[in-house]
Amino acid sequence: MIVAEKISDVRKNVAEWKKQGLTVGLVPTMGYLHEGHASLVDKAVSECDKVVVSDFVNPTQFGPNEDLAKYPRDFESDCKLLEAHGATLVFHPSVEEMYPENAATFVEILNDMPKKLCGKTRPIHFRGVCTVVSKLFNIVTPDKAFFGMKDAQQLSIIKKMVRDMSYGIEIIGCPIIREDDGLAKSSRNTYLSPEERMAATILSKAVFEGKKMVENGEKNVQTILDAQTKIIESEPLAKIDYVSAVDFSTLEDAAEVKPDTLFAMAVYIGTTRLIDNFLA
Ligand code: PAF
Repeated sequence: MIVAEKISDVRKNVAEWKKQGLTVGLVPTMGYLHEGHASLVDKAVSECDKVVVSDFVNPTQFGPNEDLAKYPRDFESDCKLLEAHGATLVFHPSVEEMYPENAATFVEILNDMPKKLCGKTRPIHFRGVCTVVSKLFNIVTPDKAFFGMKDAQQLSIIKKMVRDMSYGIEIIGCPIIREDDGLAKSSRNTYLSPEERMAATILSKAVFEGKKMVENGEKNVQTILDAQTKIIESEPLAKIDYVSAVDFSTLEDAAEVKPDTLFAMAVYIGTTRLIDNFLA
């Protein structure tokens, strides 16, 4: 596996592959990789000749009081996982490489999509995500890019950015990967104490209940949200940020369950904010 720290090295490799007529997949990550990321790499390897994984904790998507400094990092272990799953190149740039001094250009969706759901408590988050993903698209020029469905709002916003900005890149959403007890895999799960780790299963319990209600034919969104809220409120360590239902493509509030209704939640377990969701 090639390790590249410079944009120019990524470009050189990609140019060579394209000369040979090979397809390129991109898996953007912030490192501290787990089986959720591995599943994205597996999917990319199965669909593309060459797979680039970016491993970069992007400062512009963290608010001033968020966890940028303590966000977990372990590049050595990331490389082992990526090599084992067949990635071709890992791009591990410095902040200075990605954001040259005095960089002042951002990519931002100007409708309400970035203000919904997680955007209410993370107002600059999706501007940072769109900016870094846009830069990665420009650097790697992939045919396909792979994102986890756990960050459903991110996936919806990136699809919108790709449409609006005419990126000729196919965006592939991949299923949430869960621990045996249901908790969605996340690098942030490492913040949880043993007691909080047990409490954190309340998110997936609420997700599974909502899913069951949809499968049983419930059409009223509020009835499902009320049931999910009741489950989460039964856990003393949990504090709800939001439990909402929206249309997956537009992120407009949903009143009735339709095929693309996204049921999403963000819940604090202690000081750790976790997200989970399901698509009807
Ligand atoms: O989902 C993530 O890990 C990040 O938001 C992403 C897409 C790599 C951008 O920094």
